[in-house]
This record gives sequence, C-alpha cells and structure tokens, in this order.
Amino acid sequence: MDIGRPLIAIAAVGRNRAIGKGNKLPWHIPEDFAFFKATTMGHVLVMGRLTYASIGRPLPGRTTVVLSRTGFTAPGVTTVSGWDALRKLEPEKTLFLAGGAQLYAEGLSGCSELLLTHVDQEPEADAFFPDWSKLFDDGEVLKTGPGFTIKRHRRLAGC
Ligand SMILES: NC(=O)c1ccc[n+]([C@@H]2O[C@H](COP(=O)([O-])OP(=O)(O)OC[C@H]3O[C@@H](n4cnc5c(N)ncnc54)[C@H](OP(=O)(O)O)[C@@H]3O)[C@@H](O)[C@H]2O)c1
Repeated sequence: MDIGRPLIAIAAVGRNRAIGKGNKLPWHIPEDFAFFKATTMGHVLVMGRLTYASIGRPLPGRTTVVLSRTGFTAPGVTTVSGWDALRKLEPEKTLFLAGGAQLYAEGLSGCSELLLTHVDQEPEADAFFPDWSKLFDDGEVLKTGPGFTIKRHRRLAGC
C-alpha cells in the first residue's frame, strides 16, 4: 500500500496487540483520548466503516474519511472506496490512520510512523493491531501514565 504521502497510524494496543472487542475499545483511558484529540486536531482521520460505526459521529475539528466499498455515507463524512483516493485529499494536512484492525493491517506497509498507546493489559479481543516489530523501531516515549505508555515508532531504514 503506497499512497505517495506520509500516513501516521494512531492506536491504543494491549500487550497482546488487542485493539477492540465487539466493535468497542477494551478499555477507557481518558488521557489517551486527550492525546488522540490534541495530536489529530486540524488534520485528517482515516478509518474503516466499522470503526466509524463504533464512534458514531464525525469528530469535531478534523476531516473524517471513511473507507467503504458498500456505499456507506453519513453527514459530515467523506466516504472513499479505496486507498488511492487519499493521494490528493487535503494535501496540506496530515493523514492519521485511526483504525480499525482491517485498515491497520492493510495500511501498515504504507505508514511512515506509528503513534501507539501501549496499554498494560492483555484483554480478550476480536480485533488486533498487526505485528509491526520488523518494520518499525522500538519507539521513543512521548508520554507515560497509569497503565499506559505512548510511543512514536519510526520506520526502520530500508523497510
Ligand atoms: N484501540 C484502538 O486504537 C482502535 C482504533 C480504531 C478501532 N479500534 C477497534 O477496531 C475494531 C474495528 O476494526 P475492524 O477491522 O472490525 O473494522 P474497520 O477496519 O474499522 O472497518 C472495516 C471496513 O472498512 C471498509 N474497508 C476495509 N478495507 C477497505 C478498502 N481497502 N477499501 C474500501 N473499504 C475498505 C469495509 O467497509 P464496507 O464493509 O462498508 O465495505 C470494511 O468492512 C473495533 O473493535 C474498534 O473498537 C480500536
């Protein structure tokens, strides 16, 4: 997957790479929501139709782009039917890949960096973040809090 511009994945992951269960997050971490909001404000959020359904509304101050092949539409949302549509979309803004499991798996190879909230839990889950360990570094710590550490993982040279 190559859209010819930087793409930053942002996600909260458990020790078992869990990200969701029953189309919901397996935890509630207000500091992580605050980091997500501050980081993505003014930019573009790219998400799959199921993640959009779990949020239920466009998030204020950001362009919400939903990938769907089934013609999904919602007020205040830009729907696209494939990754290629992101090439020229609002080029002055940063694209944040905001999930879920299908989109992280498809998009990982096109990500320039990952902003991961490492949650100190191993919850039961049905949605997982792909294994990034061979493509990205161990990460630089951006923030720590009770039960979580937020890291920026940069793409390894040549990967
Ligand atoms: N922990 C976190 O940071 C985090 C973040 C986000 C989401 N999540 C969790 O992740 C889970 C949802 O992930 P998911 O994998 O089930 O669903 P998803 O990735 O959010 O959405 C999947 C849908 O996206 C569309 N899609 C996927 N690839 C596409 C492509 N190449 N072109 C066009 N459309 C495409 C399809 O929609 P159509 O069927 O309409 O074609 C597909 O059904 C939930 O549990 C959620 O809570 C966690």
